[in-house]
Amino acid sequence: MTTPFHHEPGAAPPPQCPAHNLGVGPGGLRRLYGPEAENDPAGLYDKLRAEHGTVAPVLLHGDVPAWLVLGHSENLHLTRTPSQFSRDSRRWRALQDGSVAPDHPLAPIFTWQPVCVFADGAKHERQRGAVTDSMERIDTRGVRRHINRFSNRLVNDFSEKGSADLVTQFADHLPMMVMCAIFGMPEEYDERLVQAARDMTRGTETAVASNAHIVSVLTRLVERRRAEPAPDFASWLVEHPATMTDIEVVEHLRLILIAAYESTANLIANVLRMVLTDPRFRARLSGGHMTVPEAVEQTLWDEPPFTAVFGRWAVGDTELGGQQIKAGDALLVGIAPANTDPAVRPDLTANMEGNRAHLAFSGGPHECPGQDIGRAIADVGVDALLMRLPDLELGVQESELRWVGNIMSRHLVELPVKFAPSPQQKLDSDPLSVMARAVRPTGDWEISSPARPVPEPAHSLAGMQPAHAPGAAPQPRPAPAAPPVEPAPETAVIPQQRRPAAPARLWQAVSRWWNGY
Ligand code: HEM
Repeated sequence: MTTPFHHEPGAAPPPQCPAHNLGVGPGGLRRLYGPEAENDPAGLYDKLRAEHGTVAPVLLHGDVPAWLVLGHSENLHLTRTPSQFSRDSRRWRALQDGSVAPDHPLAPIFTWQPVCVFADGAKHERQRGAVTDSMERIDTRGVRRHINRFSNRLVNDFSEKGSADLVTQFADHLPMMVMCAIFGMPEEYDERLVQAARDMTRGTETAVASNAHIVSVLTRLVERRRAEPAPDFASWLVEHPATMTDIEVVEHLRLILIAAYESTANLIANVLRMVLTDPRFRARLSGGHMTVPEAVEQTLWDEPPFTAVFGRWAVGDTELGGQQIKAGDALLVGIAPANTDPAVRPDLTANMEGNRAHLAFSGGPHECPGQDIGRAIADVGVDALLMRLPDLELGVQESELRWVGNIMSRHLVELPVKFAPSPQQKLDSDPLSVMARAVRPTGDWEISSPARPVPEPAHSLAGMQPAHAPGAAPQPRPAPAAPPVEPAPETAVIPQQRRPAAPARLWQAVSRWWNGY
């Protein structure tokens, strides 16, 4: 490993070493927190890769040691081998020997709870099975129609002004509106719930009160549904044969709400930022060659909503990426570094079209079960926004955009935009009762780019299994024989304001047909 600053753990840092700055701590190990990590995570991953290879020792808050897994194939091994790398945080040696206190800043992430995230084996299968079975009962076409309607409702709030901040006025709200509707509590969606979810994931001083608010909203929902089931996600969890207790159901709803909210809000903001600033996207989108789902997928490679997952603990002594891992060591699934691993992406500017082997949704038994819902919220939401405001432009210099981050995610603070003011639009008045699927699932969340031949990825991942859905783009399907809800006529959903150019209109029509609304 060639780096001017490489030195053995435990050795005193040489004079030229940036150990004197905040980025390096005891033993010369780099900190995964603090200004350097937050301002330039990609630069930090490069240094760690150069110094240690595919698995690097790092320091968490309080200079607690952990391993950051940087390599793509090493991350796949980490997530796919629960016999060696458990999800149960109670195995963490630092917790057992007291070197990490229960009030550690990362405690909300690592403190064990009786939910599927911290479970392995049969217990994980039981709890996760209840979640995934309930997800399969969701009517995907109905949800996409609601995402479209909610998006237009949000756009109505600022369309007449000619300017907006797409983070706080769009991306931060849409996932919460959708999740409240899916859960069966659309009336609970409000600014307070959005703020509470934001608080809980950003470790603010009011995080405890925010958590209490969310738990009380969800507890009331579960009590209502236990007494009187309805065709919604909360009822399906309550009545699932896994016979979860009410506390288990509330805890899983809370987990899903937070997992879905933070990640999907980040994804929408990141996609919009790329669409607005990257000439490749702007030109190709308006020219009709690149669809929003393709922009979403490229964003999942380049700006994954979760940059890392602090969530694996070594079951016994083992080896990973040439490093000796000890029983009870903590490891982070390095999503962002895996997605930029030179072994799989030697050229980061190459188009990843048709290649879904990124690790944005992690992998193995804990791979995100809500990925199709997250993709749908981003696809339909961004699509609806661009249709309403086709002349959208960034309202500040790109260099003025700011991010905040922690060890797990990176979040755009604001995305100011400007556009020609336009009047509000009348929204259709679908009842929210179309969330339940009337027929057995057919996997039709997978509504992505209009079908076309999928080229070989620029850099094929020879010998690797895609982490998620098969790499091939889905083929167009005829409308289902008995769709649960007839799609509304096009104009009922989004009446046109300014008529976009002909190719864009054609693309929009195809896109609407394809997206099912
Ligand atoms: C684009 C948005 C999303 C991204 C990038 C994302 C990413 C992730 C990641 C990286 C994990 C951790 C897996 C691991 O521990 O290795 C995860 C877990 C999870 N996600 Fe998502 N997620 C997204 C949206 C959603 C949505 C919309 C839902 C629910 C509707 C959801 C539900 C969950 C659940 C329940 C888990 C825990 C699974 C388990 O431990 O078995 N996620 N997600």
